[in-house]
Amino acid sequence: MTNPQDLLKLAVDVAEEAARLIVERRRGRITVADTKSTVTDIVTAVDRESEELIRARVLAARPDDSFLGEEGDDVLGTSGVRWVVDPIDGTVNYLYDHPTYAVSIAVEVDGTTVAGVVVDAPKGEVFTATLGGGAYLDGRPIQASDCAELSKALVGTGFGYDPVRRKVQAEVVQHLIAEIRDIRRIGVGAIDLCYVACGRLDAVYERGLNPWDYGAGALIAAEAGATIGGLHGAPVSPEMSIAAAPGVFAAFHDLLAAADPLRA
Ligand code: IPD
Ligand code: CA
Ligand code: CA
Ligand code: CA
Repeated sequence: MTNPQDLLKLAVDVAEEAARLIVERRRGRITVADTKSTVTDIVTAVDRESEELIRARVLAARPDDSFLGEEGDDVLGTSGVRWVVDPIDGTVNYLYDHPTYAVSIAVEVDGTTVAGVVVDAPKGEVFTATLGGGAYLDGRPIQASDCAELSKALVGTGFGYDPVRRKVQAEVVQHLIAEIRDIRRIGVGAIDLCYVACGRLDAVYERGLNPWDYGAGALIAAEAGATIGGLHGAPVSPEMSIAAAPGVFAAFHDLLAAADPLRA
């Protein structure tokens, strides 16, 4: 069964269960269990526990599906359906008990994302979308902002864990900051995209996000009427993800393309 609404229902149930788990675990002591690509790229035991829970629930309900999780699960199924999961988006916020971190689940059918959910775990906010079915926050339709001027755009971004990339990302911010309303670094890539979807941000961009970061959020932003893409007409990819209110996307893209020292 590959009906997007059925897939979304399972995704929401599982994401809400994982969100309850990580909030509950946050009452105890949270420590860094390991580092990954760099010393700043941390993982806690709860990142792994959340991913295990999500994988177990999804594959119990749909044993023939594929499953890709940030913390290492890569299961190849036969159904054409793939679950792309970030078990805690915003691990650094989680470690420090900053009250924004999320569970993100995207569901692809034959390579196209057809359903997505992002649960802001501490706040209990649930962002959802299905392909062609619109975007919702706690069941109410949401829409990107009507921002049409860069000088009035509140912009979100994030920084990867690689120090060389971070320096470049800081340079890009230096070029943008005088042209826009302000910058927010929320610390949760999936939430950045959902905030564009509901008008809490006018635009976001980041180099180096992974499919588990942007899979659900990009669908939610697009279904909320935001324009999404990479640089120079490319689709959203780990190379670059941009989501913006439609009235400001082109100007924002051009500013970013001019500011980005890695431009082709
Ligand atoms: C990170 C967050 C952050 C973004 C990083 C991501 P994680 O995900 O989404 O906002 O700037 O690029 O890696 O590691 O906390 O799941
Ligand atoms: Ca993430
Ligand atoms: Ca994560
Ligand atoms: Ca991580």
